[in-house]
Amino acid sequence: MVGDARDLSFLKDDSIDLIITHPPYMNIIRYSDGKIPADISNISSLPKFCDEIEKVAKELFRVLKQDKYCAILIGDTRKGRHFVPLAFNVMQRFLTVGFVLKEDIIKVQHNCTTTGRWRTKALQEKFYLIMHEHLFVFRKPKEGEDLSRVKFSLMRPMNPETPQ
Ligand SMILES: C[S@@+](CC[C@H](N)C(=O)[O-])C[C@H]1O[C@@H](n2cnc3c(N)ncnc32)[C@H](O)[C@@H]1O
Repeated sequence: MVGDARDLSFLKDDSIDLIITHPPYMNIIRYSDGKIPADISNISSLPKFCDEIEKVAKELFRVLKQDKYCAILIGDTRKGRHFVPLAFNVMQRFLTVGFVLKEDIIKVQHNCTTTGRWRTKALQEKFYLIMHEHLFVFRKPKEGEDLSRVKFSLMRPMNPETPQ
């Protein structure tokens, strides 16, 4: 790690043309074994992880130019033999800070080094293998943009008087 994406104070507001990011998927792979405090792959709690991702999203929103795009690749996981929708939780945090969802591109993801281990476990414990990831593409709206046409692709209240 060479920096902390939760603090991009060295970058000006509205200065970046395109952002492509690939965060840890909670603590599925731990990148620093707890040795780097800023490494968010040490976080095993979904809400706590998402709180940190929201800080990243807020900074990305600040530095991105208006009407430009921010893409994030993120996958899901399992706990207690049940599906954990990490990707949708992360997506919501990006909407919370003001992005609008432009695309949800599915990346087929299988035949990885860990697939064999998961396949055995899935057969034994009766669950489906997760074989995709999401490439969410968000857009930062223009200042004062009329968002009524995209109201179902965002989370921020547009105008309290506008019926949703
Ligand atoms: C899924 S990997 C992405 C790897 C990337 N695609 C690559 O090829 O280098 C997630 C990366 O996020 C880094 N990371 C963890 N916490 C971070 C933070 N607070 N700020 C920036 N990067 C962080 C990890 O060290 C890891 O390298």
